[in-house]
Amino acid sequence: MPFHDEAIGAQEVSPAQPEIMPTKERMLITGGNPLEGEIRVSGGKNTAVAVIPATLLCDEPCTIENLPDIEDVRALVDILRKLGATVTYVPGEFMTVDPRPAEGSKVGYRDSQRLRASYYLLGALLGRCGQAEVAAPGGCDIGPRPIDQHLKGFRALGAQTEAIGGRIRIKADPLEGGDVFFDMVTVGGTINVMLAAARARGTTTIYNPAKEPHIVDLANFLNSMGARVRGAGTDVIRIRGQQSLHGSTYTVIPDQIETGTLMIAAAATRGDVTIHGCIPTHMESLTAKLLEMGVKVTDLDNDAIRVRTIGSHRAVNIKTQVYPGFPTDLQQPMSALLTTARGTSIVQETIFEQRFKHLDEIARMGAIIQVVDRTAIINGVPELYGAPVTATDLRAGAALVVAGLMAKGVTEIYEPEYIDRGYEHIEEKLRSLGADIRREPVD
Ligand code: EPZ
Repeated sequence: MPFHDEAIGAQEVSPAQPEIMPTKERMLITGGNPLEGEIRVSGGKNTAVAVIPATLLCDEPCTIENLPDIEDVRALVDILRKLGATVTYVPGEFMTVDPRPAEGSKVGYRDSQRLRASYYLLGALLGRCGQAEVAAPGGCDIGPRPIDQHLKGFRALGAQTEAIGGRIRIKADPLEGGDVFFDMVTVGGTINVMLAAARARGTTTIYNPAKEPHIVDLANFLNSMGARVRGAGTDVIRIRGQQSLHGSTYTVIPDQIETGTLMIAAAATRGDVTIHGCIPTHMESLTAKLLEMGVKVTDLDNDAIRVRTIGSHRAVNIKTQVYPGFPTDLQQPMSALLTTARGTSIVQETIFEQRFKHLDEIARMGAIIQVVDRTAIINGVPELYGAPVTATDLRAGAALVVAGLMAKGVTEIYEPEYIDRGYEHIEEKLRSLGADIRREPVD
């Protein structure tokens, strides 16, 4: 994806293409089984990929718990180790990062390409040692994903930025707090500025920040190390930089998007599922839409949600928004659910420019969908039929799983490795709820 850096005359850099992984496996789903029972959601992917780089800002070891065992986490373990940090990672248990031996400030091309969040090493290394060099990040191909706002934020903290040949170089001497007003709400930009500002001299004020749950979780983690972050989750975040940060043991929040995907899958199969370890208040926009469709959603004890369907689903309209609006990451699984709702649903994707690729695949399963620019018109059909389909990105893969679970017959999902970037043990979880789902090698 191209990005422009006004500081050096908008050099157009070679757009880094997400790594297209060779198909090694396929997922096989025989649809029609209602999901029933209880499941525990994993820790949040998009919080984990911010909190792990943040450990580099510390002057002592940190231990993080509840991390999901997913590809993006494993990629960050490799990156921190190559920077010289000592990382002890026990999947499903904890990760301890001792940043003291880390002397590196560069992340190579292949490592940067493994995930979108590699660019958080820019903010973390800028805060740690005043400089950083990271290649253009990878991540899901859901449209142009420039990072001009990240670079604007770093410059507001006194950094020189350079983006040439697909590499981003930043250096600040000194790194000083400043005011950042984002032109649009950006999760990545907000996180990157928070990371650098935590160790900058003086105070940083971020106007028009993102308010997602993982923004608040990162602030809580930074504060647990002695940082002074106030206002996360509101329209203004203020950070008073600290000379040093002490060690911490921190438990990341549950995954909002995995919770939502499981809720949608329960509704899609007309099952009865209780999801434990989640935060119902993070799910309110999805819960409201599911209730509008006629799905029964019950919040239990502030840490569980029960989803049941009795009867048919009504069509609804979806418009993705920044938090607390309907999350763009749930647009894809939700649009799969809407293919068999009674009536016509309109889905507007306002955050990313190309986040409907999954709909071509689901149309192969019998869905009737028309896409005009960033709007999908979904005419409900009585049922879907299993077919061979291909995942094109993480949440597109999740949408194909939802479609396969509800379809009549067998669905083959190629390139399921995309799904592994953001969902921990997805087949095991769904099988424990009664799904007929497995994976097999592809010759
Ligand atoms: C994060 O992506 C998430 N990724 C995405 O989740 C999520 O969809 C997105 O936030 C929105 O919630 C991670 O946290 C690793 P943005 P990010 O910066 O940071 C434009 C998933 O499936 N923009 O909030 O890339 C941008 O093009 C992934 O888990 C600029 O123009 O999202 C987009 O249109 C997919 N310039 C919009 O803002 C910038 O400098 C929102 O992007 C930055 C962003």
